[in-house]
Amino acid sequence: MIPLFKVAMSGTAPALVEKVLTSGFIGQGAKVDEFEAALATRIGNPKLATVNSATSGLHLALHLVTGGVGGEGGEVLTTPMTCSATNWPILANGLRLRWVDVDPANLNMDLDDLARKITPRTKAIIVVHWAGYPVDLRRLAEVLDQAEKVHGVRPVVIEDCAHAWGATFEGKQLGNHGNISVFSFQAIKHLTAGDGGLVVLPDKELARRARLLRWYGIDRETTARFSFLNDIPEFGFKFHMNDINASIGLANLDHVDEVLAKHRRNAAHFDAELADVPGLELTERAPDRESSFWIYTIKVDDRDGFMRRMEEAGIMASQVHERNDVYTTVREYAALLPGLDSVSTRMVSIPVGWWLTEDERGHIVSTIKAGW
Ligand SMILES: Cc1ncc(COP(=O)(O)O)c(C=O)c1O
Repeated sequence: MIPLFKVAMSGTAPALVEKVLTSGFIGQGAKVDEFEAALATRIGNPKLATVNSATSGLHLALHLVTGGVGGEGGEVLTTPMTCSATNWPILANGLRLRWVDVDPANLNMDLDDLARKITPRTKAIIVVHWAGYPVDLRRLAEVLDQAEKVHGVRPVVIEDCAHAWGATFEGKQLGNHGNISVFSFQAIKHLTAGDGGLVVLPDKELARRARLLRWYGIDRETTARFSFLNDIPEFGFKFHMNDINASIGLANLDHVDEVLAKHRRNAAHFDAELADVPGLELTERAPDRESSFWIYTIKVDDRDGFMRRMEEAGIMASQVHERNDVYTTVREYAALLPGLDSVSTRMVSIPVGWWLTEDERGHIVSTIKAGW
């Protein structure tokens, strides 16, 4: 079976991990510092904090901007077409969520619907760069400018970049567009640390608080010795990364550009080969942004039939995530979402990753074309 996901582990990782394991120190230490310095250089933004997962990163980001109290009916506008990891941190922070529709062309948040739904109650907006294809961040900033004029509020934007390592908008890597950006280093992402995440912040004060609150609120950087005797002005969590995960991340950072380039090369091949297949529609490609193609999602008329044919041909295909608004835990937030309705049952992702051989890529294309 040609897999949809595979762990991209560098051959240098075991030796680096062994060194940490036998060093006598495996907590958050020198390797985390080294990983963060390398990530800051790579992204081009030093205002960041590693954490133990993107889910923790999203929880921390929401806590940073809402104070962790939910507020008086404080609301977060978000997309239902994502992993539940995007949305459950909203509930965990005691906030209400409000679904924004999905743009069927690119599977990201519909920014016109977003503009309609911002109110003075909106504390934050979470957007997801589906499959690694960036949301139109310029238009999003315009929507916020307009909301500020009308309502006098400018909600904080949290970009869920879990799929989007290395993706760019207007030539700049995600993590540089004035919002809070959260990346995932979970097992099957382009860049894995075994598990892990990264929060990139737009200003120094937020970055300072993020670094404090990821570890109980205890200052372990500016005081000479971190100690339980130092005051804790603001409580925090146990969301930090440790040196074991950081050393895996460091090893994989060396080859992640190669991994990403292979995803993109395979996607460009599919873009060319599948452009005119009847019954199948590709997603949008705009010239001002470059996707990371963590997955390659297409829209097909008969998804069950498509997935059956792929399975028979030894190719794994999946919808990857279920629209979150169907789950019982969020039933009170049900909303009319015509854009998502028009596309959610047609979405399916096919293997696009670094592991595909040219033969396998050809087999995927010919299997799809033979179906119609
Ligand atoms: C869109 C999205 N956000 C967040 C996450 C959570 O990432 P993590 O496993 O690092 O918590 C995932 C996981 O795949 C995801 O797909």
